Amino acid sequence: MRSLTAGDSHGELLVGIIEGFPAGHRVSVRDIERDLSRRRKSYGRSARQNIERDSIKIVSGLWKGRTTGAPIAILVQNLGRTVSGKPGGALGSVPRPGHADLAGCLKYGFDEVPPISERSSARGTAMRVAFGSLAKSVLKLFAIEILGHVTSIGGVDADVAPVPFAKLKRSVSRSPLYCADKQAADKMIETIRVAKKEGNSLGGRVEVVATGLIPGLGTHVESDRKLDARLAGALVSIQSVKAVEIGDVLKTHRLKGFESHDAMYLDRGRVSRKTNHAGGIEGSMTNGEDIIMRLYAKPLPTSLKRLSSYDMKMMKSAKSPFVRSDVCVLPALTVIAEGVVAWELLLAMVEQFGGDSIDQMKANYGSYVTGLAKRGIL
Ligand SMILES: Cc1cc2nc3c(=O)[nH]c(=O)nc-3n(C[C@H](O)[C@H](O)[C@H](O)COP(=O)(O)O)c2cc1C
Repeated sequence: MRSLTAGDSHGELLVGIIEGFPAGHRVSVRDIERDLSRRRKSYGRSARQNIERDSIKIVSGLWKGRTTGAPIAILVQNLGRTVSGKPGGALGSVPRPGHADLAGCLKYGFDEVPPISERSSARGTAMRVAFGSLAKSVLKLFAIEILGHVTSIGGVDADVAPVPFAKLKRSVSRSPLYCADKQAADKMIETIRVAKKEGNSLGGRVEVVATGLIPGLGTHVESDRKLDARLAGALVSIQSVKAVEIGDVLKTHRLKGFESHDAMYLDRGRVSRKTNHAGGIEGSMTNGEDIIMRLYAKPLPTSLKRLSSYDMKMMKSAKSPFVRSDVCVLPALTVIAEGVVAWELLLAMVEQFGGDSIDQMKANYGSYVTGLAKRGIL
């Protein structure tokens, strides 16, 4: 299974194609649009999000609402086509520090920013959310669920004591910031409000949890099929994400080995563990515990406190331009990260259990699970 996207930030459409998606899966456009809306309406974003609707059209790969195995083509219309009345964005020939502008212009031979900024913009994450939403709907058939939640914004940390998945999901769904700790979320909202007033921006941390996994997804045998590497690479590919933690390694790297690993016990013939420092991945494979990963995002580059830069045409010093900008995208990142993790997990599932049709996948999965049960797992 593979995917490809096209589309610019202020162009007509975003286009996404998925090839190799298993046949026979009922697709709910409403569910995909619900995820797109969670991304778009999340707290801290710019006025652009009030312009967009993010309704989707699926123009191929379906027959009577089910996937056929043929490429699926998805369209998301851009309604925001201009910035300050200018089509294609309001940027000129001054590259913005923290963005792809300078390196992109040098690499592709431009002296104006829009040909680069239009594609490097995070508008494209709408399509990644759409892909991820489709992936989530397949994973749900195998009782796998994924949830992202904000754990830190602008230095305000949430209390992240482990709680059951269902409880976490309930708390996150009630929060405008998609943060399970209400007290911390209130402080974060105030921090965002102050940053907005100052014309500034904020970074932070998001945790993603995937539950319901069987052991053995991914593999230790070759580097390009390692699940941890694929997940971390996919997450770092999201704009502004600069670090990913798997399990508790930011704590455990200071401890001794004995305190850092998750001992196994046999409990009435079933294998169990009391801790999950590994974050559900050992030797680049799922180990049956929840996957827990944390993403660290830098503060967004655009702010009213304009950094110094230079004009590529005039070869003169200039201030970096300020254009309409989000203040904080951590809540949106929770939805994008869910989608990205779902996509990578579905890839691993399709590779392992065969992907021509959902029925085939279910049959192969079922026989693997029966084998696991005989060995005291699940
Ligand atoms: C959902 C989302 C929205 C973003 N919106 C903005 C924005 O409005 N202004 C901005 O300067 N950066 C924004 N960014 C971050 C930039 O896209 C990103 O920093 C830039 O493309 C450079 O890529 P890098 O940070 O991965 O190096 C956003 C990121 C995400 C994930």
